[in-house]
Amino acid sequence: MSLTDTYTLANGTKIPVLGFGTWQSADGDVAYQAVKWALDAGYRHIDTAAVYGNEASVGRAIKDSGLPRESLFVTSKLWNDAHTYEMASKALDVSLNKLGLDYLDLYLIHWPNPASVQATSEDAWQSANAETWRAFEDVYTAGKVKAIGVSNFQIHHLEELAKTQHIAPMVNQNYLNPSDQQIALVAYNQAHNILNEAYSPLGTGKLIDLPQVNALAKKYNKSIPQILIRWSLDKGFLPLPKSTHEAYIQANADVFDFALTIDDMTSLDKLQAIGELHINADQVAF
Ligand SMILES: NC(=O)c1ccc[n+]([C@@H]2O[C@H](COP(=O)([O-])OP(=O)(O)OC[C@H]3O[C@@H](n4cnc5c(N)ncnc54)[C@H](OP(=O)(O)O)[C@@H]3O)[C@@H](O)[C@H]2O)c1
Repeated sequence: MSLTDTYTLANGTKIPVLGFGTWQSADGDVAYQAVKWALDAGYRHIDTAAVYGNEASVGRAIKDSGLPRESLFVTSKLWNDAHTYEMASKALDVSLNKLGLDYLDLYLIHWPNPASVQATSEDAWQSANAETWRAFEDVYTAGKVKAIGVSNFQIHHLEELAKTQHIAPMVNQNYLNPSDQQIALVAYNQAHNILNEAYSPLGTGKLIDLPQVNALAKKYNKSIPQILIRWSLDKGFLPLPKSTHEAYIQANADVFDFALTIDDMTSLDKLQAIGELHINADQVAF
């Protein structure tokens, strides 16, 4: 496996196995420089979202890289304030405009049950997601996005969506790292040919000093972040590490010259709940 290797989504779209995260990379020089460094380091898959507020900087870095559009894989996400048919397709146009792109490679519903939807009624999310997904199917059919998916969807959200969908989600992006392996959800996604993207592969930085991973880092002559990213790849996930430091950005991509043994994977699997768990998507306050 290498940085340019791909997984194949249910519709045949190829997606690079490692993506570059941009949450909390401030709009302007920070996000711009981080994405430039990532592209220089060989990443070809960038993960952003409307709510990150940095799509314009991400787009500028992509443009200035001079890389052919078709060599890149760009994901954005629909924010929680636009869960209707009309608003979802308008929000895509806003994201495309900010990014300076005429299509996205992947568009995701960011959260399944936002606070605004919860406020209308306890079971409003079902119809909101059905309607939003219909917009996703239409922009996909129109060719404005090459693949469509969801994020933070649990099994009950996916099963509900399946009642009305004509096209199944191709990706489900979730909080996944040794501290929260979401085993049932991962298995459900795999059984339905939905790729497991792993956000916060380093626990938003909170797992990078885990003493339990020190011995493995020494054994493989790698850093703890590199071990965590490799764990994600060896699980068949698509990790999305984020950094704003050039050295970290480069190091996080230097994970293709080793693989963890089954015993070492098992020892990392024992770290379930060592740190934070995923947020309950039905109780988010945003
Ligand atoms: N769909 C969703 O709801 C959702 C939610 C969360 C995240 N995501 C996506 O997943 C991406 C990654 O998740 P995340 O941002 O939560 O965090 P993460 O990638 O798990 O960790 C990022 C943190 O670790 C630090 N770091 C990165 N590499 C390092 C290294 N080699 N050595 C030491 N420290 C290192 C970073 O520091 P510096 O930045 O200071 O370098 C940053 O503080 C996001 O950026 C976003 O694209 C999606």
